[in-house]
Order: sequence, then C-alpha cells, then structure tokens
Amino acid sequence: MQVNADYLKLKAGYLFPEISRRIKEFNSENPNSDLIRLGIGDVTEPLPLACREAMKAAIEEMGTVEGFRGYGPEQGYEWLRSSISKNDYLSRGCEISADEIFVSDGSKCDSSNILDILGKENKIAVTDPVYPVYVDTNVMTGRTGEVNREGEYEGLTYIPLNSENGFEAKIPREKFDLIYLCFPNNPTGAVATKEQLASWVKYAKANNSLILFDAAYEAFIKDDSIPHSIFEIEGSKDCAIEFRSFSKNAGFTGTRCAFTVIPRSLKGKAGAEDIDIWSLWNRRQSTKFNGVSYMVQRGAEAVYSMEGQIQVKKLVSFYMENAQIIKANLTAAGFDVFGAVNAPYAWIKTPKNMSSWDFFDFLLKNANVVGTPGSGFGAAGEGYFRLSAFNSRENVEEAMQRIIKL
Ligand code: MLT
Repeated sequence: MQVNADYLKLKAGYLFPEISRRIKEFNSENPNSDLIRLGIGDVTEPLPLACREAMKAAIEEMGTVEGFRGYGPEQGYEWLRSSISKNDYLSRGCEISADEIFVSDGSKCDSSNILDILGKENKIAVTDPVYPVYVDTNVMTGRTGEVNREGEYEGLTYIPLNSENGFEAKIPREKFDLIYLCFPNNPTGAVATKEQLASWVKYAKANNSLILFDAAYEAFIKDDSIPHSIFEIEGSKDCAIEFRSFSKNAGFTGTRCAFTVIPRSLKGKAGAEDIDIWSLWNRRQSTKFNGVSYMVQRGAEAVYSMEGQIQVKKLVSFYMENAQIIKANLTAAGFDVFGAVNAPYAWIKTPKNMSSWDFFDFLLKNANVVGTPGSGFGAAGEGYFRLSAFNSRENVEEAMQRIIKL
C-alpha cells in the first residue's frame, strides 16, 4: 500500500499544532504558570443568546414527529441561504441569490475542498504571509514541488505583504489562474480598498483567472469605505468565489457553520469548453457532504434576527476593543504594530530583529503570553508576530501589562 507522498513535502507540522506542542512542553516544565493565549484566532465569549435559543428550539422540534428532520439539503436549508443572501449581499447591493450560496461546516474545509473541482495544471498565487491552509492543501493535493529553506514551495508564487508595500497585494505582471486573497487579512490585519479589489477583478477577468476570496473577518471592518465582499466589485461574479464564516462574528468556531458563494455566471475551462463552476461544486457537495446539522443552521439563521444582530455587533465590538487595547499599549511601548483596526489581529514587528520563533519563546517564557510567530504564515512573515484579540478583557489587559514590563 502506498500513501499520498505529497504529504511528505509538508513542513513538519501545521502551525497551530506546533504551537500547542511548545505550550504543552512549557506547561509540563512550568505547571504553575498562568498562560494567556493570544495565539490561534479562537473566540472566547459565549454564543449569542439568540443563537442558543434558536438551537434549543430546533432540538425540541427534532424531538417531535412533525418536527423531526433527517438528511437536509447538501447545499443548506433554503431559509438560511435566503437570509444570507438578503442580509449579507442584497443589503450591500450585491446581486447574490440564495441558490448561489452553499452552507458548510467551515471556511477552512471549503477553501481546501474547492481544489477538488479545479485543475492541477493551474498556476497559483498566494500572498505571503498567508493563512497556511491555502498552501498546505495545494501541497497535499500534489499541486506543488518541494519546499525550500525559506519555506516556499516550488510551483507556488508568493505575493509579499509587508510594511514597505503597505500590506497591499500588488497585481502581478504574470498570469495566474488561481489567486487566494483574504481581506481583512489573516494574519496581517490589513484591509483591501475598493480600488485595490477592483484592480484584482480587472486582472482576473483579463487573464481568465479565479479569485478565491476569503472574507471570514468581514464583520470586523469599521471603515465604511472598505468592501465586505468581493461581490461589491463590478464584474466579480465572473471571476470570484467567496468564503464566509459564522466562526468569528458569532462565535461559531466550535459550533461550525460557514458558507461559500459560487455565482451562477462563473465559468472555468475543460480544454476549450466552458464549464459551469456552480454545477461542479454542487456535484462535489452532493457526493461528499451531507450538510450542516439542522440545529446549527437554525442557530446561524438567528444571527440575522434583530436580537441576533445586536448581540453579534456587541461581540464584534468587544473583540475590536481588545484589538485597540493591544495596539495602543504596544505602540506606546515602542513596538511597530499593524492591523488591529479593521481586523481582530495585531501584526507586530519583533523587537531587536528577533526571529519570529525566538520572540514566541521569549514571550512564552518571560511573560507567559502565547502569540503566533509570523514566520509560521510564510517567509515574508519572518520578523513579525501576531497577537489575536480573541480573549477576555482581563486577559488582554494582563497580557499587555506583562509584555510592557519586559
Ligand atoms: C487563525 O488563528 O489563523 C485562525 O484561527 C485560523 C482559522 O480560522 O482556522
């Protein structure tokens, strides 16, 4: 029996398990330490009441003969897709209909699974730093060569996002078939303006490329001029797929619900023939996926109720106040801090040119604070460090005091 040897090309571990490993080691040597985790972007505040009530009611329904439901539609229930269409898209002037929305159990899964329906010969560009899932899933599916010493894979092109270019993904001269963009950006916290996204759409249309747009953090945008969706850009329905999630806005990281938008007008090629992408994804989902549980979809639907909207906005504001506290404190302490204004991540230049992992170990040992080393997100992340705003106020304030004292 042979294994998928493409997995052997992967760097040692997925970033977050590697961080957990180091924390475990630290904890076993320092069992009484009081660690504050601002590493993985995992929410900490309780689920909104509106979502919990909707999920409870849905469980009760499932306990009755009339209300019981078996397999749901693989695409998600129509009532949830209609709510998404109305509240997230039509309300912002994006003509996205309910049937262009596919409900799923996560954007991490969808942004990986999408490769099932895309050709292996595509030329791929990612930003650097980048959410590691985009890269690793291309490696796993045999779309890259080996990794070099800088951690870059042969066959992928990296578009640098750094302080010199204002963390803007510059339009390449070359033609790429697939481009992964994530804005508000994980990990840098940067946002893309309407003009920048319009340039990407223009590029994609001119080159018959597909933009895989991850908008998992759109709820954190404060600046009204920043687009929340790629579909706010004219022409994008011919060249983009969007991933969205309830994880970060409504605290669903453990509950699991997300969605992917595939416009009906989106076409790819099989040889010279035009192929409908929506139909391929629909086929893929119907074969490999049985949908998200009824209770969870009812919980997600409640995000769009009046109470749900108030509660979700409160959650988002809470985390963004944390982001502000991080940015203000570290800036005052002399750090260069990026992001944390329209995104729940602060992207920090490490002091004294320390490497990202050295700074990780330094903070862990001396402040008992966990962050994420920038180099874990790609070569261009070296010398940076990410702190997440997802934690209690008390922990964020305490973490800042500890870092400032160092
Ligand atoms: C992160 O910390 O980058 C996120 O938690 C990743 C994710 O949402 O999967």
